Parts: sequence; C-alpha cells; structure tokens
Amino acid sequence: EKVVNAALLGLGTVGTGVYKVIKSQEQEMTAKLGCQVRITKILVRNLEKASGKVDDPSVLTTDWADIEGDPSIDIVIELIGGIEPARTYILAALKAGKNVVTANKDLIAVHGKEILETARTAQKDFLFEAAVAGGIPIISPLKNSLEANHVTEVMGIVNGTTNFILTKMSQEGMEFSDALALATELGYAEADPTADIEGIDAGRKVAILASVAFNSRVTLDNVHIEGITKITAKDIRYAKEMGCEIKLLGVARCQKDGVEAYVCPMLIPAEHPLASVNDSYNAVFVHGDAVGDTMFYGRGAGELPTASAVAGDVFEVVRNMKADCCGRVGCTCYKTLPVKDMAD
Ligand code: NDP
Ligand code: HSE
Repeated sequence: EKVVNAALLGLGTVGTGVYKVIKSQEQEMTAKLGCQVRITKILVRNLEKASGKVDDPSVLTTDWADIEGDPSIDIVIELIGGIEPARTYILAALKAGKNVVTANKDLIAVHGKEILETARTAQKDFLFEAAVAGGIPIISPLKNSLEANHVTEVMGIVNGTTNFILTKMSQEGMEFSDALALATELGYAEADPTADIEGIDAGRKVAILASVAFNSRVTLDNVHIEGITKITAKDIRYAKEMGCEIKLLGVARCQKDGVEAYVCPMLIPAEHPLASVNDSYNAVFVHGDAVGDTMFYGRGAGELPTASAVAGDVFEVVRNMKADCCGRVGCTCYKTLPVKDMAD
C-alpha cells in the first residue's frame, strides 16, 4: 500500500482539527484514494504544550529544517498563519518539490502571485480552499465547476467572528466585547482579532475571491475596508425598527473599467437570505453569465469546519499525485489541474 507523508506546520485551532480529521478519515480515505495519508512531522513552537494533542509526540519538532530537508514528505500543510515565517516555509517547501496546502489568507491576499508562480515553476500544487469562508467550498467551485462562466460578482458574509458578534448583539442583546470574547473562545477569531473586527480579514478574503473569480490580480490594498467597531446596540435597534439586520458584507464586482472591491457593514432587509445567515455561518453569492445566481452557505470558521476544507485539499493533492501514474479511461485517478493563475 502506497503511503503519502504530510507535515503539519502549527498545531493551534485549525492544525489540531486537521490532525483529528485526517486521523478519523484514515481508513475511509485509504480505501478511496488507494493510498494512506500519514502526518509524519508537526512543526510547533512549544513541545510540551503540543505533546498532549497528538498520539505520538515523536512526530513533533521545533525545527523547520527537519521538514524542509526530509525528502519523504510530499505535502506541507501550513497552519501557523501570518506572513513570516509562513511565506518563507511555503516557498522553500515548493522549491524542495513538496505540494502545499494552507488556510492562510493573510499571506495569499498579499503574496498570492509570488507563491502561485513558484508553485507553477516547481509543478506542484498550492491549494487554499480554507482561506475563504472556512468550511464552505468556494475556491474549488470558482476554479472548476463555474469555470465556463464569466463571473461578474462575488459578494456575501465572509467573516465568522463579526457575523457571530452581530448575531449575538441583535438576537441576545449581548455587548460587543462579550460577543468577541466568546468568538475567540470558540476558535473563530484570528490570533489578533483586530483583523476580524476592523474588516481586514474579510478584505483579504474579498481580494482572494476577486482574484480567483475574475482571473485578475486583486490584493488587500485594492479593497476599501470598513469594519464593525463603530456599530452600537442603538444602530442594531434602529435597523430592526426599519425591518433590517446589520451584516458585514464583502463585495467584488468585475466591471468594464476594472474591479470594484469593498467590505462594509450594510443594512439587509429581514426577508433577504443574507439576513438569516447567523452565528459563525458565512454565505457567498456568485453571479456568472451562464449559471446566473448561486449561493454557497455553511460554517465560515472554527476547528472542524476549517479542517474539513484543509483536509479536502490534502486529499485532492494526493489524487493529483496519483494522476501521474495513470490516464486510462475509467480510471478513478483525477487529472492534474494546472495551478490557475490568480494574478494578472
Ligand atoms: P492558532 O493561533 O490557533 O494556531 C496557530 C498555531 O501555529 C499556534 O499553535 C502557534 O503556536 C503556531 N505557530 C505560530 N508560529 C509558529 C512557528 N513559527 N513555528 C511553529 N508553530 C507556530 O490559529 P488558527 O489555527 O486559528 O489559524 C491557523 C491559520 O488558519 C491562520 O492562517 C488562520 O487565518 C487560518 N484560518 C483560521 C480559521 C479559524 O476558524 N480559526 C478559519 C480559516 C482560516 P503557539 O501555540 O505557540 O502560539
Ligand atoms: N477569523 C476568521 C473568521 C476565521 O472569523 O471568519 C475564518 O477565516
């Protein structure tokens, strides 16, 4: 039986979830993929803190060189977040001939072009489904099932923390700070939640969505951003009196003269489908010229929903690796898809 070795970078909320999901799916995925995915190394900062989270603490390391220099590792799953050292590790992994899966929107929204070009040159996969809208499949549909469309608009609720806060303020009269503390406790918020509440996290996701959907290069600084820190209980009460809910929306439109992208709180009429997207759920509308309107809905943050998207990408990489060995009609292997350029 063939074994594919993977290394996990980071064992926080999402890293722990990915470890659990890959372990729990081991037998089923081995049967489906025809090979076993094994996590053989995990990069952490604190061995003692991490040792209780894994079955075999000997997989833990604090030294990136242990992973970069290990030729038996085919897939690197980056879940430490932020720009550095994540960028350096990802570029080095690709150059060392490893495929990379990440949930790191901070990095892709700024350095996506550089990383995708490196992946293309190395002929390796770089997949990032979990970077936008947590567990909801949205990057893959945009790259695959919707590819025959000219997509003109992508919009929706793309941050679980702020949607959780607004829901708790609206439905339970909770204070902003208490709702934020709860979102952090539940693993929805970023390590520094400023990015969530100021709309920056949603802005990163809008940049990534616009880049993939419009096959263009949109970075974080192209997105106009306003967060929810100025929203008060009074605003929410007035919104309700007008038959509306306040939601933080991310919008990207492809127009004749360029791409328009922004994030801001908006009044949504109660009967609109987005008004009933609550708690940490996200929803993304996509308009394509052939398909018309589509809506993607589900859990936008949290340990297992996000791990679901990361693990799905890991299994896709394995399928792509397998595709090299066979191309017969009726074969269950998937064809290797070229890494789509989300730049230029
Ligand atoms: P956490 O802060 O929970 O986990 C990050 C982990 O990485 C921590 O355990 C941290 O160690 C570790 N780490 C940080 N730097 C290093 C380093 N240099 N070497 C080794 N380990 C390191 O974050 P999340 O799990 O929530 O997020 C991970 C990624 O997933 C981020 O990119 C985030 O934006 C993204 N994401 C998160 C979602 C969520 O719902 N939480 C949803 C979608 C995407 P230590 O414990 O010592 O700080
Ligand atoms: N902090 C992010 C959110 C995690 O709340 O949506 C998922 O990307």
